[in-house]
Amino acid sequence: MTHTRRTFLTGAALALGAAVTAGGAAAVAQQAAGADKPVLKFKNGKFRILQMTDLHTAYNNPHEVAQAEMTVQKMREMLAKEKPDLAVVTGDMITSGVELLDGGLEAAWENITRPFDQTNTPFVVTFGNHDHERDATMAEQLAMIARAKMNLTYSADPTHPGAGTCCLPILASDGGEAMRLWFFDSHSSPVIEGMGGYDWIRNEQIQWYRAESAKAEQRAGHPVPGLAFFHIPVPEYWVVHQTDAATGSAGETPGSPELNSGLFTSMIERGDILGIFVGHDHVNDYAALYKGIALVYGRKTGFGAYGDLERGGRVIELTEGKTGFDTHVSTPLREELYWSYWK
Ligand SMILES: [Fe+2]
Repeated sequence: MTHTRRTFLTGAALALGAAVTAGGAAAVAQQAAGADKPVLKFKNGKFRILQMTDLHTAYNNPHEVAQAEMTVQKMREMLAKEKPDLAVVTGDMITSGVELLDGGLEAAWENITRPFDQTNTPFVVTFGNHDHERDATMAEQLAMIARAKMNLTYSADPTHPGAGTCCLPILASDGGEAMRLWFFDSHSSPVIEGMGGYDWIRNEQIQWYRAESAKAEQRAGHPVPGLAFFHIPVPEYWVVHQTDAATGSAGETPGSPELNSGLFTSMIERGDILGIFVGHDHVNDYAALYKGIALVYGRKTGFGAYGDLERGGRVIELTEGKTGFDTHVSTPLREELYWSYWK
């Protein structure tokens, strides 16, 4: 077990102390999550996120149906073990064969969202490239997911490409806005012919992030620290992969877009993102630091995903009043790859 603590002097800009007014932040939270939805809030000074990823549920034959059941069972085991305040599934949730399943695509999404509803665990999903292969639009799929009572995923701007690009605040115990969680649809193949590789997080989404980040800073009087979740790693992962700054398994070259749309650069310019958490590359589960932002892979959860890593998830633990996070990989039987990033 290794435990790396990195300490940086950054001045007071990211300090958590000066939260926005309680009423203002609560209004933001309610607007984001919906009036009847749970509000994310530090409890006893802690907030625990469980990232699961690459479920790859498929229904083409009895073997895949059995694998999908094993995957949902793994999700249940992880939820029971970690009891997170929020679960995030970072993409590739449904792979194929939904038309062969009783109830079709809706039933496939129900299979995935049911464990969250049954354990009263608020959850967000970010769509992966395989989720874009269904016949339904991303907005239609998000509407199916939104039937789950614990779902917090929404589209902040329905005109954005894809669906589910959104932000949720985590409130401090006094009701102020302590942190922000950002979620992006990272799409599938480029819509522009001849580009090859994977699509990129689009300019509209980046401009939205920049505007909302600036608004949050204005309310708080300082950049509000945040974490970002999406499926396909940004190209900056190539750098940490090549420099071997990684903690954990680095079994394959990051399947990033060939073109860099500048999300990471915008995060540097805005100065509020502490870490990015992705899926997509099933045999990578490392965490590394690049120019002050943690680049982290989740541990794959689905049995339909390639690779031999033990199925599980990644735990991210936040501490109220501190800027950073502790994280480790968790499976039903073990915890490993402890890593921390505190400013
Ligand atoms: Fe995948």
